[in-house]
Amino acid sequence: MIELIKQEIKQKIESKYNLTQVIVEEPKRGFADIAIPLFNLSKEWKMNPKLVFDKIKDDVLVEHVERIEFMNGFLNIYLERKNLSEQILHNIFEKQNHYGDQLLEDKQSVVMDYSSPNIAKSFGVGHLRSTMIGNSIQLIYKKLGYKTVAVNHLGDWGTQFGKMIVAYQKWGKKEDVQKNPIAEMQKLYVKFHDEEKNDDTLEQQARDVFKKLEDHDEVYTELWQWFKEESMKEFMQMYDLLNVSFDYFTGESFYNDKMDAAVEELEQKHLLKVDDGATIVDLGDDMPPALIKRSDGATLYITRDLAAILYRYRTYGATKLLYVVGNEQQLHFKQLKKLTDLLGYNFDIEHINFGLVLVDGKKMSTRGGKFKRLEEVIDQAIVLAKDAIMSKNPNLKNQDEVAKAVAIGAIIYNDLKNDKHLDVDFDLENMLKFEGQTGPYLQYSSVRIESIVKGYDIDIDQVNADVYKQDHYFEIVKSLAQFPNILHRAKDTSSPSVISKYVMSLAQAFNSFYGKERIIVEDISVLQANLLFARSIQIIINESLRLLGIKSLKEM
Ligand code: ARG
Repeated sequence: MIELIKQEIKQKIESKYNLTQVIVEEPKRGFADIAIPLFNLSKEWKMNPKLVFDKIKDDVLVEHVERIEFMNGFLNIYLERKNLSEQILHNIFEKQNHYGDQLLEDKQSVVMDYSSPNIAKSFGVGHLRSTMIGNSIQLIYKKLGYKTVAVNHLGDWGTQFGKMIVAYQKWGKKEDVQKNPIAEMQKLYVKFHDEEKNDDTLEQQARDVFKKLEDHDEVYTELWQWFKEESMKEFMQMYDLLNVSFDYFTGESFYNDKMDAAVEELEQKHLLKVDDGATIVDLGDDMPPALIKRSDGATLYITRDLAAILYRYRTYGATKLLYVVGNEQQLHFKQLKKLTDLLGYNFDIEHINFGLVLVDGKKMSTRGGKFKRLEEVIDQAIVLAKDAIMSKNPNLKNQDEVAKAVAIGAIIYNDLKNDKHLDVDFDLENMLKFEGQTGPYLQYSSVRIESIVKGYDIDIDQVNADVYKQDHYFEIVKSLAQFPNILHRAKDTSSPSVISKYVMSLAQAFNSFYGKERIIVEDISVLQANLLFARSIQIIINESLRLLGIKSLKEM
């Protein structure tokens, strides 16, 4: 609503005076509802700001504008609060969780590649970040009307499987792998690297095995399949817990029969070069060449990503492709973009990278054995959440379910609360607190509203919208009206943190409002106004949480 008013004013001024980029902003609390800084216009027209004000003041008097003033070089606009608030709240209440949905006429497919853990290795913290960031971005795109294709590009192909197979055949035991698949496979992998120091033929053996695997060797294929199934069991548990799903689990191996065509395409454009037996593509002076095939003909990570992107383009018609992957792969995605440019495509490739996860200031790694496995960390969070819930609300039904939602919500919010490029501090105790910038605080805010308004029906016709004229109401109404805009900003910057910061300030605003004002009052029309107000806040909190991947609760 307020966004529309801003747009209208902006367009009116721009078209009337033949200008572009006139700034019409919503200043921070306290000042006007909308402000136009006059400095630029004053320069442009060589007039002092007050004269600029006089010149354009009638142009801003659109619907819902109540009064304007000149102050410190700004044209300040105050909105008519009553009807505007009523419209905004009605709209939210009518649309419920669909408030802010956008319907796109021409549905564009956007492929999102995230999570993508590696088979036979544990699900790393980096993969956890990728999963949560990717999931949220996917939900945001969907809400804004895009057709999303969520792909899990499992790391299930490559020389490392040659190593795994060699190691397993030399030192592995079937029962051990069955009992503890990923841990055991990881051990074998480590052993392979240790033994390599004594036996310099191992590396070559692994390469030979992988080459045979690419050529469909039966025994190796069967082993590989088994490793994959065992790993997938663990990964699926993780996704279940996080409530994350994918449209496709097409890992690297999926492209085994699609790489020839991709290489052929490079060949036809005369891009391939043989260098020391290997097949490469020169990518110019500002980056190293892309290695497409080793001298023995085995393919590489980038070969599979090239086949994958061409497949995604042809199968889903996608020209926009997002990859949520750690920073260390920056060069890889630059090379991929360059390769596809050279082939004559103009894909919009966005590499969404993110900061590290730190424990006590040190990089958290679930690989080195220094930290517990991620599943154990999550289980521990659930136990802690359950303790907290039991002490707060001992009679709560379905405590286990709530504890799970709180624990997972805490981990997700902790991950998404700051700009994705920043490192994340992983401190279970802090993230599980019911106060401060935490997931539980947000869930609790929603539960609190539920407990206040539960049992009261809203009757829109009885609402006395005069109450919304008061500052402490109107400030919150304005922030609710910003929600659609927030979604666009989150999408445009691929930043779930835009939503996480927004919902935090909304929850805080409600809680401080509730510290001053009662919701349940005698006067029916004020009561109705309050109910509509509180429910609308709850709707936006819950929908924001959903977009972050966090469950909202009715009780906790
Ligand atoms: N499996 C890779 C890793 O763990 C990430 C894959 C990302 N996606 C892609 N299309 N390359 O590092």
